[in-house]
Amino acid sequence: MSTTFNLDTSTSRANPTPQPMRRLTVPAIKQRKFEGKTETPLVMLTAYTARQAQLLDTHCDMLLVGDSLGQVIYGLPSTLPVTLDMMCNHGAAVVRGSYHSLVVVDMPFGTYEQSPQQAYASASRIMAETGCAAVKLEGGSVMAETIAFLTQRGIPVMAHVGLTPQAVNSLGGYAARGRSQQEHEKIISDGKAVTDAGAFAVVVEGVIEPIAIALTQSIEIPTIGIGASAQCDGQVLVTEDMLGMFERVPRFVKRYENVAETISKAAETYASEVRERTFPGVEQTYQPK
Ligand code: KIV
Repeated sequence: MSTTFNLDTSTSRANPTPQPMRRLTVPAIKQRKFEGKTETPLVMLTAYTARQAQLLDTHCDMLLVGDSLGQVIYGLPSTLPVTLDMMCNHGAAVVRGSYHSLVVVDMPFGTYEQSPQQAYASASRIMAETGCAAVKLEGGSVMAETIAFLTQRGIPVMAHVGLTPQAVNSLGGYAARGRSQQEHEKIISDGKAVTDAGAFAVVVEGVIEPIAIALTQSIEIPTIGIGASAQCDGQVLVTEDMLGMFERVPRFVKRYENVAETISKAAETYASEVRERTFPGVEQTYQPK
């Protein structure tokens, strides 16, 4: 998919226009952490559609086409049933709808864990079909060999440690990680392993704050926190969570809007105008000249 096709915001049509800005690159993101410090934290949000990408693009450094789309878009019970087809379709839409942010696409469960070769086949398909700049995969030391295999072959990898939702069945739920000394040490060693393997950044999800701070201070690549700490090198949230699309608000989410209420009110007004025959009005109908 070409990234030179931008959607016209007034018509939603894809137009081949010159790029208004240069897209951020993987080295540019990595270099935002210099000598262990990130002056301005990296901003990342999830995006699943072209229009959503357009609206978020200029405010973000990175857009994540997360496999959370399984729950958010498809109403699935977890991220486990998400497929490569879904990630490729939504990834391509997000690349088409953005021109500034680095787009990272999640590798779905079952498409990379078996071997570095399986991961390469899946990641190269994602990159070729979407035009994204990087993939994200879950797991620490156990995925180090795969991360090295991909990065050495031109596929930038964002790693994901701590609470890894694809492992929900092994973890027994989505509770914060790192409360025991053993878990604490494991998360730190996972972060170091993915750094040594060549990941350009690492999502640190659902860990107690001291771990997020210690990891951020002990690795050279940016840590992107979610349910972690403001001391991470950047933050990511699921956009629909921060927009207030769902009733349940996990502890780590801050609601910046109440979009669910806005949509519901608009639908209620539309429904009553249709039933009262006040919509469409004269302005919305074609009259003889
Ligand atoms: O799938 C996703 O949206 C994610 C973020 C929550 C980090 O992995």
